[in-house]
Amino acid sequence: MRAMQIPSDHPLLLRIVDDLAAHGWSRQNIFLPADLTRALAAECRKRSAEGELAPAGVGRGASTEIREGIRGDHIQWIDPGQAESCDSYLNLMDSLREAMNRHLFLGLEDFECHFAMYPPGAFYLKHVDRFRDDDRRAVSAVVYLNDDWLPEHGGQLRMYLDEDTQHDVLPTGGCLVVFLSGDVPHEVLPATRERLSLTGWFRRRGNEPF
Ligand code: OGA
Ligand code: MN
Repeated sequence: MRAMQIPSDHPLLLRIVDDLAAHGWSRQNIFLPADLTRALAAECRKRSAEGELAPAGVGRGASTEIREGIRGDHIQWIDPGQAESCDSYLNLMDSLREAMNRHLFLGLEDFECHFAMYPPGAFYLKHVDRFRDDDRRAVSAVVYLNDDWLPEHGGQLRMYLDEDTQHDVLPTGGCLVVFLSGDVPHEVLPATRERLSLTGWFRRRGNEPF
């Protein structure tokens, strides 16, 4: 599979930009091409089999703790140059970053992302994707890597859009969910089978000391 590139004015990206401007979130059921979804799933499974995924922490920096009562996923951060499938995904997200900056003036500087594997029964309790002491995360993006996911498998991403509106997303391969990190509380419900995703954050420049 060749590393792929799409222009930042692609209609799919503009739909996401429009949704974010109107509602603060977007869901695209068919975002990744099937061959890229498959290649990313294989890469995630390979890393998991090689023991490279580690239990995810809660919190940031020195105060990070492993707390399976809050989140039970295993993760590995992705860097450029490790695998063609990952580089393709990073290129796609860079086009999305450009589209959001051009149309929404978000000033997004970079994108960080990790593979996540939730073993059967694992969950992530309701939370917001922004740390109290670090507000650089501006936009969250989750893409799912699972074949043939059925409602009875569970594992929904549940978003709390306002007081009385929830929106559930099944983690079906190729589906992308994007939302404003500080505005949308969400949780991951337990599933009856292994659940794979790639979760990432577009970040603004931090308030670093001069
Ligand atoms: C996260 C998260 C959602 C999902 O990793 O912060 O909320 O559906 N993931 O995997
Ligand atoms: Mn989250």
